[in-house]
Order: sequence, then structure tokens, then C-alpha cells
Amino acid sequence: MSDYNFLMESKLSPRQFRVVNLLAQAASAEGLNFYLVGGAVRDLTYGQPIVRDLDFAVEGHPEKILRHLQTPRPGGRRGEPGPVPPHEDEVWVEEARYSPRWLSAEIYFSSGVRAEVSQCRREDYSQPGKPPEIVPATIFEDLRRRDFALNAMAVSLHPNSRGLLLDPTNGGGDIERKEIRALHSRSFIDDPSRIFRLVRLTQRLGFKPEEKTETWLRSALAQQLQNRLTPEQQGRELEAILREENPARTLKLFADRGWLTALDRNLARLRYERLQKIHALAQKFPEDDLFLLNLDALAGGLSAAQRVRLAKKIIRFPGMLKLALHLEREAKKLSKHLLSSRAASPSQVWRLLSPQPRILLLYLLAYSGQSGVQNRIKHYLFKAPQIQARLPRLELQALGVNPGPKMEEILGHLFFDQLDGKIKTSQQLSKAMRSLAGVREPTPLPPTRTRAKPKKSSPATPAHPSDQHETDQAGARPPGRASQKPGHPPGTRPHAVTPRRKKSPSAR
Ligand code: CTP
Repeated sequence: MSDYNFLMESKLSPRQFRVVNLLAQAASAEGLNFYLVGGAVRDLTYGQPIVRDLDFAVEGHPEKILRHLQTPRPGGRRGEPGPVPPHEDEVWVEEARYSPRWLSAEIYFSSGVRAEVSQCRREDYSQPGKPPEIVPATIFEDLRRRDFALNAMAVSLHPNSRGLLLDPTNGGGDIERKEIRALHSRSFIDDPSRIFRLVRLTQRLGFKPEEKTETWLRSALAQQLQNRLTPEQQGRELEAILREENPARTLKLFADRGWLTALDRNLARLRYERLQKIHALAQKFPEDDLFLLNLDALAGGLSAAQRVRLAKKIIRFPGMLKLALHLEREAKKLSKHLLSSRAASPSQVWRLLSPQPRILLLYLLAYSGQSGVQNRIKHYLFKAPQIQARLPRLELQALGVNPGPKMEEILGHLFFDQLDGKIKTSQQLSKAMRSLAGVREPTPLPPTRTRAKPKKSSPATPAHPSDQHETDQAGARPPGRASQKPGHPPGTRPHAVTPRRKKSPSAR
């Protein structure tokens, strides 16, 4: 039996793991039973890297969890740089939206992680073709209402049972056999979007539909159920396609089956070149969610009105929608600023770019033909996080500076001076650190007779004026996960995520 605590810590990205813990703490403070469910558990079990959203189920009201996340962010108004240097652990709610119809909250974090927290529910499809009646339920009932057995597993995040796997329909066995099994004969009738989900999953995982599932699928297709998706289901499916690793491949698969217009009438004549460009970018930024860039590429050939309609169908967050519709305009504005005197030094570039949505920078990397723009963005994305990750927090503590505003101020100076190449060697760094901390230089030792040859000073961090274009990193990858600065997703200004202190959780 797998150790899911170990798997979560080792397979989720640090950003995702932070979100799992934040939400689990909030649920625990409310005494709620809380679970990781769906695709994330499937991928953990199968040993896939998880790059998609996180789904959670809670036995209770999701808004009880949301309210722990809504504290406003201290400092840094909209469009202004956040704290300097940004702290690794900082994560804010960028946008959150609760759907009373589905008893479900979608949360978009400042780190770029998306999460859905749904109340455990039953879906009673009493009348064919009509939306289900939604009834709050237990986790076991909730797992049984799901699409496929391999998606119907949960991992408990309650402190008393954290890591315990619930797999009432033996999804684990299906994963071993590489099979996708619908949980009952009416699955595709109740929810025809599962037709698309099944085909998408078979392509992504290389699994086969289980025998009975295949029969139910054929019967659903014979009834043309794939053409009966509601606009909401169409939007969700298109969103899922655009979050696939290679959306063009999935769209081609559906185009070959003649299913594209069942998702949107304007997709009849698709152009794939821009999507392929974004796919190439995704290889360099494997942890970034390029959904908005894929949507932009998908809508490339449409009229303005058609683009708006398509974007509204797919995007549910107002801030994200606004960004999606104005990517090109915002990118043009930003590239003009990047080539102006406002961005003459790397630290100015940092101040200019840090409040920007990360996806805008990736858009410019994909489409800007100006090397000045490309190099400044690459410098910001690749070099600044390296300096940030090596800032001497511990060394400052050893000099008697305690964590707090003073330490952050000193780190800010050290960060910018290294960015601008004013501090290049470890000796210069140590000198600047002592001077800013108000600590005297150690008195040199008295000379001894046999003097050792002085060592060459070692570099602190390479200086990197952004305009020298030495950062042409074609093929380069972003620094390791831990050192990545969280993205700047779109929308209203973030709220700090500050879980309240725990109440004693009730054991199940
Ligand atoms: N689900 C379902 N029926 C649907 C859509 C979703 O039963 N029509 C359930 C499944 O348990 C699914 C979970 O909700 O795993 C989350 O759905 P979603 O995020 O759309 O998909 P994932 O399975 O998480 O897949 P992905 O890896 O593409 O995110």
C-alpha cells in the first residue's frame, strides 16, 4: 500500500503541497473531514507528475474553509510590486468563486495553483435529460457519484487519518490494469461530457476503456449523446482540453471524430500553428499553466465578438477573463515599457515585471520578436529567482538580525545590488551585509610568518545587466521548483492566506 503522505510531499510541486496544507489546516480548524480527490489521487497512484488542478471534497460547507483564506493582503496594492524580496511561502487567494448550485468553491491562488473544494454530494438523476438534484452526502456516496473508478478515490487530509486512501470502487486495481471503468450503466446518459473525458483520458494515459464501459460508450454514441452537452459542460471540457499537455493533439483527436462543433460551433476550422508554438514554450516551462495562452491561440482566427463569447464560455473568474481578452494589448504596453528608460537596470526591470501576471511575460516570450524584450524577461524569470533563493537569511540571523521588517529591508538592498551587479563576489556580499546590519568587520588576524597565498575571490552571484543580452537562454529551463517565484495570476488584488489557529479537530 502506497504511503500517500510521502507521495503528496514528493510528487506534488511545492506550490501545490503548500495549498494542500493550507486548505487542510483550514478544514481542521473547522473540525471538518477533508479529502484530496479525483485526478490528483489518480495521478499520485499511477506515479504521474501532477501539473493540473487540485480537487478536494469536504464533509461540510466549503465556505467554512474559504473564510480562512480571505484575509486581505498586507501592503502591495494592485499593480505594485509585492514585498522585496518576495517570500517563498507567500500565497494569496487571487480569485475565489462559490457555486451554490454545485456546492463547490473554485479558488485561484497567487502561486498559480487552482483548487476546487466541493461539498461531498449525491447527484440524483431522477428525470432523464434533466440536471441532477444535488444532495449533501458522505465521502463514500460522493465517490460513488463520480465518472470513473480511477477518479473515485480519496486521500484523507484530516490530521487523525492523514494519508489514508479511500478506494471503495477499486480504482487502484483499474490503474494496475490500465483500464478506465465507468461506475454504472447510466454514466454517459447522466453526463454526456464523460464521453469526451473518457476519450481524453485514454489518449493522455494510454489506458483502455473496460469492456462494459466500452459497450455503454458505443450505445451513448449511437444516441449522439456527445452533441447534448450543456454550454457549461462544453466550457468545462474546452477548459480541460486547453490544460492538456498538448491541446492541439487532443483537438485533432476530437476533430477526426467530428466532435469539435459539439464543443463550440466556431471550432469547425481550427488553425493549429499558434497552439504548437505554445506547446514548444510549455517544454521550457513545464510547471506553468499555459491555459490562457492556449485559449488565446485557439481563438486566434475568430472575430472579436466570437473570441469574447468563447472566452466567457470557458473562463469563470472575472479577473482571469479580463486578462484573457486583453493579453495582446497588455503585452504591447509592457514591451514598450521594457524598452524605455524605465527599465534601464535589472532592478528597474524587476520592479516593472514583478507585479505583472506571469502569463503576460510568457506571452511575450512566445510572440515578441524584440531581443531587448526577450532578454529582459529571461533575466527576470531565470536569474532573479536564483539570487532570491540564495539571499543570506541565515547569515543575517547569525549576525544578530532577527526575521522581521529590518531583515527584509536588508535583504531587499542585497537583492537589488546583486541584480544590478553592484555586488559580485561573496566578499562584497558579506561586507554589504555587515554594513547594512550595523556589524563591524572582524578584526584581521595578526600576520603569521608563513603567509598562505591569497585565494581568488569567489563570485557571489553573477552580475547580469539585462541589456548585455548574455542571458540568451534558448532551451534553458527555469530554476528548480523551490526557487521559483510564484506567478502573478490575474484579477483582483490577492488576499493573504492566513489560516486561523486550530480548534481541536473532531476525530472521525
Ligand atoms: N468528475 C465526474 N464527472 C464529470 C467531471 C468530473 O465525476 N463530468 C469528477 C471526477 O472524480 C474527477 C473530478 O470530478 O476526477 C475532478 O474533475 P476534473 O478536475 O474535471 O478532472 P480530473 O479527473 O481531476 O482530471 P485532470 O487530470 O484532467 O484535471
